[in-house]
Amino acid sequence: MSVGGASDTVLKLADISVRFPSGADWLGRATSHVHALNGVNLDVRRGETLGIVGESGCGKSTLAQVLLGLLQPSAGQVTGAAAGDESALQIVFQDPQSSLNSRMRVWRVITEPVFARQRKSTSELRRLAVELAAKVGLREETLDRYPHEFSGGQRQRIAIARALSSDPDVIVLDEPTSALDISVQAQILNLLEALQRDRNLTYIFISHDISVISHMCRRVAVMYLGQIVEIGAASDLLTRPRHPYTQLLLGSVPTLGEEGLGELIEDTELPSNRRLPSGCFFFDRCAFSKPVCRQPQRLIAGVRCCRADELANAGFP
Ligand SMILES: Nc1ncnc2c1ncn2[C@@H]1O[C@H](COP(=O)(O)OP(=O)(O)OP(=O)(O)O)[C@@H](O)[C@H]1O
Ligand code: SF4
Ligand SMILES: [Mg+2]
Repeated sequence: MSVGGASDTVLKLADISVRFPSGADWLGRATSHVHALNGVNLDVRRGETLGIVGESGCGKSTLAQVLLGLLQPSAGQVTGAAAGDESALQIVFQDPQSSLNSRMRVWRVITEPVFARQRKSTSELRRLAVELAAKVGLREETLDRYPHEFSGGQRQRIAIARALSSDPDVIVLDEPTSALDISVQAQILNLLEALQRDRNLTYIFISHDISVISHMCRRVAVMYLGQIVEIGAASDLLTRPRHPYTQLLLGSVPTLGEEGLGELIEDTELPSNRRLPSGCFFFDRCAFSKPVCRQPQRLIAGVRCCRADELANAGFP
């Protein structure tokens, strides 16, 4: 591992767009497209925990798939030290029940990523499983059981051990604790933190839960309709959100302001990702929209809102 310069970027997304074909005409051609990601630029730095937040359907998991190299973007490029390296990139999903092969014994589940690539002997794999089980707090005697014989928290430990087996640089954690009880959540988060310190891991932490994000992440990216609308240090972004959408997400929005601002419309539907707006994607839900917002918005100084400075200076929210 080298220090400093571009090599500190483990993954870099440049102008990533992903669209999925949808519907079909009589010739089998797509009748429309779902625009899941729309021009995402992102640097993931070695050793950091980068949080990704945003409503359901905003593209978080699609972004994860692109970062992992599991999904080829429709446009843009993924580069960086770990890009395209299957062993260096791993993922832990929300629901270990469905993500773990229920017909494999746990030691097989844990070492499968290694087995698939390196063809080690059974005794070598077992030794690795024992070592990883110890690291994640699973007892060695349990390695011959099947995943369904474990509790949710233990299954997530199995999923983490499995992710560690190929000695990765980056682990994407896609809602890793959302399905767990609060007390178990805390144990898993503590385990993830300890493993990160131990192995200099880079985490990309996807969650709906702002308190979990605030606990785990040094940097946070906020997504809306397949774009990053705000990105920055968690300490700034979570306490002084600048984009009106981030303010809405964090519940720190004003209700009615001067200048006829109107209310931020919380219960409006997400605009469709089949027909993207031409200007600011948040226009229809934003309390601060002006005609100027009808032009495409760029991410400038971490915020995709042409009125961000003006609003901050005017004391909104
Ligand atoms: N394979 C696919 N084919 C068609 N559309 C897809 C596919 N995968 C995702 N989508 C669509 O792309 C958009 C983004 O989905 P994605 O799963 O990335 O959202 P998400 O932010 O992870 O949501 P959630 O919080 O519910 O997990 C959604 O509109 C989704 O329906
Ligand atoms: S650009 Fe305009 S509509 Fe979009 S978030 Fe900023 S103020 Fe609201
Ligand atoms: Mg998702």
